[in-house]
Amino acid sequence: MEFETYHFDAVIVGSGGAGLRAALMLSEKGIRTAVVSKVFPTRSHTVAAQGGINAALGNILPDNWLWHMYDTIKGSDYLGDQDAIEYMCREAPDVVRELEHFGVPFSRTESGKIYQRPFGGQSLNFGQRQAARTCAAADRTGHAILHSLYQQNLRAQTTFFVEHQAIDLIRDERGDIAALMVLDIATGEYKVLRSRAIMLATGGAAQLFRTNTNARINTGDGLAMILRAGLALQDMEFWQFHPTGLSGKGILISEAARGEGGVLRNAAGEAFMKHYAPHARELASRDVVARAIAIEVQEGRGCGVNQDHVWLDLTHLDSALIKQRLPAIREIALTFAGIDICQEPIPVYPTAHYMMGGIPTNIHGQVKTLNDQGEVEVLPNLFAVGECACVSVHGANRLGGNSLLDIVVFGRAAARQLIEQLSHQPLDYFDAPLDLQPVERRIQRWQACDASSSDGTPASLRQRLQTIMETGCGVFRTEDTLNKCIDDLTEFSAQVDKLMLQDRSEVFNLERLEAFELENLLALAWATVHSARSRQESRGAHYRLDYSSRDDDNWLKHTLYFQSQPVNTPRLAYVPVTLQPLTVPSFPPKKRVY
Ligand code: FUM
Repeated sequence: MEFETYHFDAVIVGSGGAGLRAALMLSEKGIRTAVVSKVFPTRSHTVAAQGGINAALGNILPDNWLWHMYDTIKGSDYLGDQDAIEYMCREAPDVVRELEHFGVPFSRTESGKIYQRPFGGQSLNFGQRQAARTCAAADRTGHAILHSLYQQNLRAQTTFFVEHQAIDLIRDERGDIAALMVLDIATGEYKVLRSRAIMLATGGAAQLFRTNTNARINTGDGLAMILRAGLALQDMEFWQFHPTGLSGKGILISEAARGEGGVLRNAAGEAFMKHYAPHARELASRDVVARAIAIEVQEGRGCGVNQDHVWLDLTHLDSALIKQRLPAIREIALTFAGIDICQEPIPVYPTAHYMMGGIPTNIHGQVKTLNDQGEVEVLPNLFAVGECACVSVHGANRLGGNSLLDIVVFGRAAARQLIEQLSHQPLDYFDAPLDLQPVERRIQRWQACDASSSDGTPASLRQRLQTIMETGCGVFRTEDTLNKCIDDLTEFSAQVDKLMLQDRSEVFNLERLEAFELENLLALAWATVHSARSRQESRGAHYRLDYSSRDDDNWLKHTLYFQSQPVNTPRLAYVPVTLQPLTVPSFPPKKRVY
């Protein structure tokens, strides 16, 4: 096959906040940088982040980055790496001020400072009382950040490959990852982007679950590319179910609604969180609140005719405050549920939201893997940032407001490292021929063909996969649900093997795109279920009814998953959690109560 080839110093896959923050720094330094995005950049999923970004600015209450660090480690159920968490929390005030200078229109206090709201799992003075650490642009913070970063990249003259789908990483004959294959969605043309460094910033993958808050594009493309390249994914058993998805739809109802004073109530009108988190109540960590809601419903205290949700009640709040601080939530509830939140409670239920696991990296965004001797090593010139990466600052459960922080802190850190590395790289870098055979096979598999023997379309199969994962690998798991999930995925994989596309057009064939995405989701489904079945404990968002306690003696470690053949046979390895921060004493694991 013949492909047009383009050359860059850096290619970034994904135009959410992480990719754009990195691209901006690279372009400003004169590095020839291309950003590949399967949607127009300002439609990347960062745009949907609502509540805000954490930083110990102390604008509302006194604050300290060490308290932020402590809360994040506790929130992670001690699986987060303490060096990375220290780095993120220390950098936070600086990156937020930088965003302000890029033009992000943060909400303001009366005295003109950046407005900060209380969010879940935050505390002052190592757990003493609720903090207010989440810097907000009303409840559209991600939207404000993404648009500002895109505008800054236009100024810095970053090159964009808009509506181009990343297909796979390509190695050269030396075995180094040296290029990326992309598909131009509008023309159906495949292109090779050769680059001295590649950075994956492809975001999350909660499209793996039937009920989720994620955009349809969140299919884990970068993570599946890593697996196909023979590299590992880390901690894929840890998926965050956001407590308050709009019931039946999964759309995000921001934690900001609880931060501003919203209360969760069961069918009897009882504010039930006092039974699950006596101090923090609605602002306990997300895993705790999500399980509380699921238990209320399971035990028959759910609301509505089907008793399948609880109420998020904001009716006691001043309607002027709701209009000022929660305008998007008001609009979503009105549009999708016909509810005026000033007058009526919102029906909510947990919804898949965020992937704590991902591509293992160090704090410079460099991708890590295991070498043949089982030692951790860093790959030259391959980076990962944002939700697709696992650095790991979120461990087993992410705190709300730490996701927008992660993307800008580590987007910037990775760009710094990349600039440093390129300055030492030999100039013969583009000389080695590429090994295109693996990616050519993948392309040929999904050329439009006869659908007569096919049992479903990519879209219908995605729905089936989402149901399998939600049933077997949701808020609560057991050996039985996970084994059933493996059986279902084995059968499902055979269906995908037989899948044929119906759309015969070579150009703008959306079915072909969905087929690539389906393969990616399926690879992540296997990673998730194998990692979850092996971890015989409950930690953060991974809750096993058959192993209901945290087990630090055996499981204070990260899971590494490699794709193997046959795919229903797992290949797993484990590496230690970093308990030693960079400059301050460690926070040793202790029982987590809110
Ligand atoms: O609830 C929210 O606004 C989501 C924030 C986050 O996931 O960090």
